[in-house]
Amino acid sequence: MKTNLDLHDIQGNIIKGYGRFGFPKARYILYRVTDSDAGRQFVTDLIPLITTSVPWVSSSSTEKGNPKPKVTTNIAFTYEGLKKLDIPEVSLHSFPDEFSMGMKDRVDILGDDGASAPDNWDPVWQLVEQIHILISINAETIEDIEGRYQEIGKCLLDGVEQLDGHKGDDGVELPYQDGSAIYNGDIPTSKEHFGYTDGISDPYFWGSGASAISVVGGGKRTREDATTKAGWEPLETGEFLLGHKDESDEYPTAPIPPLLSRNGTFMVFRKLHQNVGLFNAYLEKEGARYSGGKEELAAKFAGRWRNGAPLVDFSTEDSANEFIAQFIQARSNSYTASAENKEAARAEYLALKQKLVAFDFDKDIPGSKCPVGSHIRRVNPRGSLEFGKEAFNTHGALVNRRRIARRGLPYGDVKDPSSNDGNHGIIFMALNANIKRQFEFVQQQWINYGNDFKLANDKDPLLGNHQSKESGEGDGRMVIEADPNGDRPPFFCQAIPRFVETRGGDYFFIPSLTALRLIGAGLVDPT
Ligand code: HEM
Repeated sequence: MKTNLDLHDIQGNIIKGYGRFGFPKARYILYRVTDSDAGRQFVTDLIPLITTSVPWVSSSSTEKGNPKPKVTTNIAFTYEGLKKLDIPEVSLHSFPDEFSMGMKDRVDILGDDGASAPDNWDPVWQLVEQIHILISINAETIEDIEGRYQEIGKCLLDGVEQLDGHKGDDGVELPYQDGSAIYNGDIPTSKEHFGYTDGISDPYFWGSGASAISVVGGGKRTREDATTKAGWEPLETGEFLLGHKDESDEYPTAPIPPLLSRNGTFMVFRKLHQNVGLFNAYLEKEGARYSGGKEELAAKFAGRWRNGAPLVDFSTEDSANEFIAQFIQARSNSYTASAENKEAARAEYLALKQKLVAFDFDKDIPGSKCPVGSHIRRVNPRGSLEFGKEAFNTHGALVNRRRIARRGLPYGDVKDPSSNDGNHGIIFMALNANIKRQFEFVQQQWINYGNDFKLANDKDPLLGNHQSKESGEGDGRMVIEADPNGDRPPFFCQAIPRFVETRGGDYFFIPSLTALRLIGAGLVDPT
């Protein structure tokens, strides 16, 4: 449904993945409130620094918007935090259970056991009921981050404490968590520590103000009937923002009063350590057995080649390399083309961008190109779960209710690619209107279980919590389906170790600017 959102009221990180806007650096800071009045004053003092979703435009542009800032700031609260800020009981009780329980009490659902159990989390994330406020800063340079960090520090009052205990390199404990894109020389890349290009697919919803071209691949497929060819339209706003209709044409469950919840959303924050040594060793060993070799095995795990090309359309490494080279060239041409060539250059770029993001698995239902159990096919099956055309004419209708907007960045450096030690991984942030239906479902049913894909107990090869309870060894399995037209039999990966371990996290509420003012002034009134 076409929606005009009040972008001044919505925090900027909901609409914008800042990494995509030239902000490769981030800092995440946690606070404990010991005095409610001081806590509310702190919130009020920070409001002028909060970045909204208003579009950023250049000074020469005729479009409405603000100039791009050098640094952004956003704020979010745990349930315990809202309690400390004196939100009335009736409002507190109207928050969904999973949010009020917090991530630590949901570990059974999330599969955070063994190496990922809370006992192994960074000390700060082990604090029980003491994490109240999260502030995130994003910028182009660490100097800008540091400047804003100092500015926020000046707002601290007696009764609000910054929490220590984020693990840094060599076990050092730090007063904040930094995030950063991985650099190639001086250039930030979109790689993560296993070498994949990340941050490619992102959902697109009505009113989000993001570039409308993102609807292709980012939105949802439109209904297909005898006369209409399927196209794309934005997802419903209520999948990502409270107070707006969602894909079931209803308003998502939201806390009261509406002024507190409207234009806000929930955020899942997870610090995910990557065992790079194990990943590389496994690829070497199994890649030597697999007829496609190590690089193709890495692609089969993710569903995309490490350069980002989707496996379903690019089944050889050469075709993937050729496509990505064309894509990068076309993107660069679209910026540099002369006025008369601009339109053609842009059209060529958009056509290639569609190939990158707007694919589906319809022509590969058995998974012989992109394995049914690969990471991207699990976390966004894009309509491939709807066996039998009569049942669902709307492509992806089931999946449209499980989308999440990812807003994270890598953290740390890999100093030795043959070792798992160190402090490096992904700060994973997922935004959704309903943590239980969206993030938790994806994590529990699609990452750590395989039933929906008819894959029994097989888990996501990259993310699954593979670890035998008896031996402690990796017990993951993955089927790489046979190619029915060729001569390649299925390949069975065995004893996959746990490549990714949770090192902390929690569930947060990101209020609107209106709600922030009410919280700061102590005026949330659910009656
Ligand atoms: C260390 C942890 C992780 C790694 C290395 C990783 C890696 C990747 C890669 C390489 C892609 C493809 C590039 C892209 O489309 O952006 C991707 C996509 C995605 N991942 Fe992950 N991921 C991680 C954690 C997670 C978690 C915890 C979830 C959800 C619970 C998740 C959900 C998604 C989703 C929804 C997509 C987009 C799929 C699509 O729309 O095609 N990822 N991830």
